[in-house]
Amino acid sequence: MTGMLDGKVALITGASSGIGRGAALRLAKEGARVLLADMQDEEGESLRREIEQEGGIAAYAHCDVSQDEEVRQAVQTAVKRFGRLDTVLANAGINGVWAPIEELTPVEWDKTIAINLRGTFLTLHHAIPHLRSAGGGSILITSSVNGNRTFSSAGASAYSTSKAGQVAFMKMAALELGRYNIRVNAICPGAIHTNIGKSTTKRDTEEVEVKADIEMTDFLNEGQGEPQDVADVCLFLASDLSRHVSGVEIYVDGGASLLK
Ligand SMILES: NC(=O)c1ccc[n+]([C@@H]2O[C@H](COP(=O)([O-])OP(=O)(O)OC[C@H]3O[C@@H](n4cnc5c(N)ncnc54)[C@H](O)[C@@H]3O)[C@@H](O)[C@H]2O)c1
Repeated sequence: MTGMLDGKVALITGASSGIGRGAALRLAKEGARVLLADMQDEEGESLRREIEQEGGIAAYAHCDVSQDEEVRQAVQTAVKRFGRLDTVLANAGINGVWAPIEELTPVEWDKTIAINLRGTFLTLHHAIPHLRSAGGGSILITSSVNGNRTFSSAGASAYSTSKAGQVAFMKMAALELGRYNIRVNAICPGAIHTNIGKSTTKRDTEEVEVKADIEMTDFLNEGQGEPQDVADVCLFLASDLSRHVSGVEIYVDGGASLLK
């Protein structure tokens, strides 16, 4: 059987859980060889086995995306193991601490920005030379509705700022890299069932919440998506079906962020 990504190699950060995991399974099913990068080693290795049991090809590398050298090594591992790099999904991220701005500590602010924004920069920084060597490629960045179309998550100022920054960075990169046949796009999910709640700390957010009375039942799928919904968009952006698509953010939220 031929897959949409036969012969391609993809690097996915934050691959051990949630959206990254869903995308890894989907891209591998379409023939991509996948380098799974994350800090949750057990879950990453278990995903590698799952992909291989289904007939796919994957490897796992431990990598904290906020650390320059660790990202460089993860990218190197992908190229050494699979010989090339065609697709990058800069996906690793945390919600971090959500708190009133006057209470949020500089250390908490820095951590969210370091993982979500610096991590995205480091991933592209190290991957681009290999995408150029391959004659082009597709870069996907997992941003969010937060910071781009909605501002309703009380206390999420650092998170929303990092997610808006990712979209600005994506647009700069799309312009810069078009000449190398590299496309760059962002995916902005709404509420997706993942483990992101585990990386969320909320403190006194009720103090700064602006209440809006919105019934989620009025939205498509009640405004709740699954990792597979995001994975299908990743497949489109990674494949040649999107060969003329670059510099855009795609909302995967059932339309909910139009209002909430
Ligand atoms: N779930 C949602 O509703 C939602 C909505 C919008 C955007 N997002 C974005 O999707 C991306 C993935 O989140 P998810 O919902 O799948 O969450 P998740 O917690 O299920 O998965 C995130 C993965 O990233 C990894 N990770 C965290 N910090 C890391 C680091 N420093 N280096 C490498 N890996 C790291 C975690 O170990 C985990 O495996 C994030 O960028 C998040 O902001 C999620």
